[in-house]
Amino acid sequence: MTLPFEEAALYSAAPEKFIMSATLEMRRRSLEDPEGFWGEVAEGIDWITRWEQVLDSSNPPFYRWFPGAQLNTCYNALDRHVEKRGNQAALIYDSAVLHQRRTYTYRQLRDEVALFAGALASHGVTKGDRVLLYMPMIPEAVIAMLACARLGAVHSVVFGGFAPQELATRIDDAEPKAIVSASCGIEGVRVIEYKPLLDQAIDLSKHKPRTCIIRQRESCECDLTEGRDVSWQDAVASAKPHGCVPVMATDPLYILYTSGTTGVPKGVVRDNGGHAVALQWTMQSVYGVQPGEVYWAASDVGWVVGHSYIVYGPLLNGNTTILYEGKPVGTPDAGAFWRVIADHGVNCMFTAPTAFRAIKKEDPNGSLLANYDMSTLRSLFLAGERSDPDTLEWAEGKLGVPVIDHWWQTETGWAICANCLGIEHLPVKHGSPTLAVPGWDVQVVDEASHQVPAGTTGALVVKLPLPPGSLPTLWNDDDRFVSSYMTEFPGYYKTADAGYIDEEGYVYVMSRTDDIINVAGHRLSTGGMEEVIAAHADVAECAVMGVADELKGEIPLGFLVLNAGVDRPYHDIVSEVIQMVRTEIGPVAAFKTAIVVQRLPKTRSGKILRGTMKKIADRTEWRMPATIDDPVILDEITERLQAIGYA
Ligand code: COA
Ligand code: AMP
Repeated sequence: MTLPFEEAALYSAAPEKFIMSATLEMRRRSLEDPEGFWGEVAEGIDWITRWEQVLDSSNPPFYRWFPGAQLNTCYNALDRHVEKRGNQAALIYDSAVLHQRRTYTYRQLRDEVALFAGALASHGVTKGDRVLLYMPMIPEAVIAMLACARLGAVHSVVFGGFAPQELATRIDDAEPKAIVSASCGIEGVRVIEYKPLLDQAIDLSKHKPRTCIIRQRESCECDLTEGRDVSWQDAVASAKPHGCVPVMATDPLYILYTSGTTGVPKGVVRDNGGHAVALQWTMQSVYGVQPGEVYWAASDVGWVVGHSYIVYGPLLNGNTTILYEGKPVGTPDAGAFWRVIADHGVNCMFTAPTAFRAIKKEDPNGSLLANYDMSTLRSLFLAGERSDPDTLEWAEGKLGVPVIDHWWQTETGWAICANCLGIEHLPVKHGSPTLAVPGWDVQVVDEASHQVPAGTTGALVVKLPLPPGSLPTLWNDDDRFVSSYMTEFPGYYKTADAGYIDEEGYVYVMSRTDDIINVAGHRLSTGGMEEVIAAHADVAECAVMGVADELKGEIPLGFLVLNAGVDRPYHDIVSEVIQMVRTEIGPVAAFKTAIVVQRLPKTRSGKILRGTMKKIADRTEWRMPATIDDPVILDEITERLQAIGYA
């Protein structure tokens, strides 16, 4: 038996505890012979020209998968399935807010996508151009993404909960030739007009798109700006279907902006070839889903989960995918997910733990389950934040199917660690997303990049090269790619998560090592919020940190120090900074609470004691830091937090 890397050490440390699994065996092969392994996996994709080599490692840390190969991602997601599965549902749109459903077969979806690709082309969009999408959860979002892929254009989807300023930053970075949007989104019972937000963003941005194509929705039609805007309906009425344009495997498919440690988001780039290879493989190996089956990721197309598992993964694999417009609760009740599963015969579901916490809060006994036939459901996958054991056990108990926590990031595009049900069902350990998936050489290291023993917490890193489908670079910013991910631990990708690996190779992801927080499964930067708040005229200094929240996992909490002489009521200033974050970052930040304090607690060298403040707010045990410059300030903070129900 040859064991890979840390497993060998783990095996010799505790052979009686060691599990020799098919996952580990496959992972060993993928790491010892990545070219052989991924070369075989790549046979699952239809290529126009085959690769010159599987992996080009000549310019680390810039690795390129399948250089020289040509393909079209849209062809692989739609056209190639039409002959065999032309009448199978490819996409089911289920709107719990409008009580509407629409099913697109593979043939219909291919035709709609070809037509919209024709519409984009008639507005001058060609291979390599960027197209920005600011869309609610409607089929046109999926159609627009695939139409870009069909043309070899690069889409960049921006989540609807972001404010115009955030949208403007992305417009300036991606410099899109066209923007595709809709007149409105529907959040529960509220209609959110998108068009004014889009107009504001374009006013704010330096780069101006040539065209905006706006899907008019019945719930709220909007005015169009003459000379720039055209309605979706008019754009397709005059369009001719467009064929699939061959692109290089290494050409970008999309840019997805994600929070970095400053207010400036990172444009994660995804290539065409490696992405198609990896995602199609994960459908079968990670999720255990066969072509023809029904797969549902209850997320949003604005997030990576939506890209990978509402759109590309299921379609590349010939599945039926569900596009759900609604919430887990309130549309109309906590049985909404069960209704979708029963109505569409969902076999495998994916969502964030926060959605299950919301359901559990409303219907703790799961009594609404009795109203639905859940017999098709085989598994539930959770990601986006750590699955707390309570929620996981509740879901296991109520659904009676394996509930799998898996760990990944926008950057990786697919799971780094999972219980790969398509390979084998390993024993579940609550609190762990199980083993590293084939392709990922996950290690835990100390500050000097030395591996630490099993059970010891450190930085979670991945030995290079990363597998296909993970980010090859950041858009227009190779330097930031290197400095953010590749510099601190040479030879490794820094995940910016901390955790440990136990003696059996199970990985535990415990916290971020930077200022990123996870609010209802949405990734946000507290540094970005601090930048906004610091601009308030009365604020001298501020700190924002993520504190525990029963529903959303974490929520941001702000601490404000005011300029000397400010005598306005504190609550006015707090309301203003809350509004500033909402206006500049968006409602998705869920920044609703802040307190005014005399000073921020700091070490004698001036570092803010964020860890201690967070512990006080979270009501976890804390000790007076030996290096604190002024211990009294912590009493004031504790008092203020108690007054608003924290600490
Ligand atoms: N467009 C416009 N606004 C949006 C939006 C969108 N697409 N998505 C969210 N928002 C708004 C919400 O309306 C809310 O605004 P409010 O402060 O005025 O109420 C705010 O952004 C925060 O939204 P959210 O964090 O989603 O909170 P919520 O209270 O509306 O719902 C959950 C809480 C748990 C039900 C919800 O977050 C959820 O279903 N999560 C599922 C997990 C998920 O999709 N994760 C993505 C990664 S897998
Ligand atoms: P995003 O890029 O939005 O997908 O967020 C990625 C971050 O979410 C990771 O770096 C983790 O901090 C967190 N995360 C995602 N999935 C998990 C998980 N299963 N367990 C723990 N943390 C997770």
